[in-house]
Amino acid sequence: MRSILCGLLNINHIDTKVELCGWVYRWRDHGGVIFVDLRDTTGTVQLVFSPEYSVSAHALAKELGLEYVIRVSGVVRKRPPGTENKDIPTGDVEVAVDTLEIINTCKQLPFNLDDEEINESIRLKYRYLDMRRPEIHEIFKIRSLAYKIVRDYFYSLGFREFETPYFTKSTPEGARDFIVPSRLNPGQFYALPQSPQLFKQILMIAGFDKYFQIARCFRDEDLRADRQPEFTQIDVEMSFVNVDDVIKVSEGLIGELVKGLKGKEIGLPFPRITYNEAMEFYGTDKPDLRFDLRLVDITDVFQETELGILRRIVENKGSIKCIHFKEKNLSRRELDLAVDKAKELGAEGLIWMKIEGNSFQSPVSKYLKMEELKRLEKKVNPKDGDIIFIVAGNRDTVNEVLGKFRLYLAEKYCDIKDDELKFVWVVDFPLLEYSEEEKRYVARHHPFTAPALDIKTFTGQMGDIPAKAYDLVLNGVEIGGGSIRIHKKEDQMEMFKLLNIEEEEAKEKFGFLLEALEFGAPPHGGIAFGFDRLLMMLLGKKSIRDVIPFPKTQKGICPLTGAPSSVTQKQLNELKIKINI
Ligand code: AMO
Repeated sequence: MRSILCGLLNINHIDTKVELCGWVYRWRDHGGVIFVDLRDTTGTVQLVFSPEYSVSAHALAKELGLEYVIRVSGVVRKRPPGTENKDIPTGDVEVAVDTLEIINTCKQLPFNLDDEEINESIRLKYRYLDMRRPEIHEIFKIRSLAYKIVRDYFYSLGFREFETPYFTKSTPEGARDFIVPSRLNPGQFYALPQSPQLFKQILMIAGFDKYFQIARCFRDEDLRADRQPEFTQIDVEMSFVNVDDVIKVSEGLIGELVKGLKGKEIGLPFPRITYNEAMEFYGTDKPDLRFDLRLVDITDVFQETELGILRRIVENKGSIKCIHFKEKNLSRRELDLAVDKAKELGAEGLIWMKIEGNSFQSPVSKYLKMEELKRLEKKVNPKDGDIIFIVAGNRDTVNEVLGKFRLYLAEKYCDIKDDELKFVWVVDFPLLEYSEEEKRYVARHHPFTAPALDIKTFTGQMGDIPAKAYDLVLNGVEIGGGSIRIHKKEDQMEMFKLLNIEEEEAKEKFGFLLEALEFGAPPHGGIAFGFDRLLMMLLGKKSIRDVIPFPKTQKGICPLTGAPSSVTQKQLNELKIKINI
């Protein structure tokens, strides 16, 4: 129906006859001459309707409305001097239209496509209109390019692509399962996969060596800006590898994506820090390294303090940590706000100390001994105008509060460049973590992760067993995680025992994996990247919904289709399901 696409026209096409199809993006009548910006997936081009070129086309152009679908033919002309539009690639040319066909009309739009601030639920309800907006359209062209980069990269390294089932058995990734009733097996349910974890391990046992999949995963968890109930992973597994091998392949992939999507070379390899270092210095296992602001342990400075609040913490074997905030002369009001913020984040209080000349200005300075201040000065080494923020409490709370407080300070006072990308590997995660909710230790990554030592001879605390597990973090967001897996049945059973999973339960849930491990399973390991999250970060978007074509709202609703919705009694009867609400 057309000879060329709108966005491709340029001065090389001057004087050629073209046929174009697209949508009426903008329409204006300039006293006898009508201008239309015609848009298709490649961009827009200006059409000119004048009785000089065609009386009938000009007459019909008067009837056009926004987002009408049209087909035109005409001749490409250079725009008159002074009327060029440098903001668009086709801005040097226009098309003098001689025929116009209205293919389809469009009713009153629910929002103006040019508006910048449109309510998200309306945008998602009319996602097809939202996606016509050039800026949003671009995101999904980039997403498509990202699939290609991922595939090209893995194929070039000899990886094989697989699809694994959606109707499967539960894989524990720490969230609730979405379940699907089976009509053929009444009372029985499939679980939608939280990840292809067990299938990819089984493919290694099948001898495929290098697997990848751009896989949809399903997790019924509370939604946040970087979480969706169904999301996409770049899922990877390899045989006969160690941690360094998986990291190397991963870095190559990220390098290709950053180059292809941002046109930038990213420095490789990425830095690595251990989980313990991350917690100690940044108070989180996903540190944002675009700014330094480390947490400094100053518990020893106050061992003999007479300042009541600190003494209590020291006596209870808690910890006292600070952030040294350099050269940011904050006002009294800003310091008060900082105290409020720390409390909001869960601190009992926040002590600030401002260095003025040679003295510490602080609401508590008169309660502190000279030698304490000296020791603090020696440890932190502050300069005139600097501020020290101190939080005391139990170790985990202090880390958590200061970890978040660090982000607050950076966001408010530091100059963080939007397009800066700071990747870091967090390695040596603990194998287990204590779950307050379940009152037992659970796998920190998943129960198929290999410990970094022999569990049977380990004598320390359960929470201190190291694992061969790693996460990739970008600007403070976890964009990927993986591990070397257990590849022997006895070791896997040992792990289940550690997790208090009875032998019967293990067999019922994972019998197929346990059996497969007995048939010569190779050592293997892998990783999965959150594809949506990675795109969100690379494109500088605030929400994962911005990069997913048809996302759910915070309440798990699809505004476009209205899902979830009720089903008919007949459907329920077939499934032998009774609703009990
Ligand atoms: P994990 O559970 O860490 O590992 O998931 C891998 C990555 O997937 C992304 N992600 C999400 N993205 C959007 N919405 C969600 N609800 C969501 N949950 C997770 C994160 C995360 O880093 N099978 C293992 C991988 C492995 O061991 O190889 C797994 O799924 O970016």
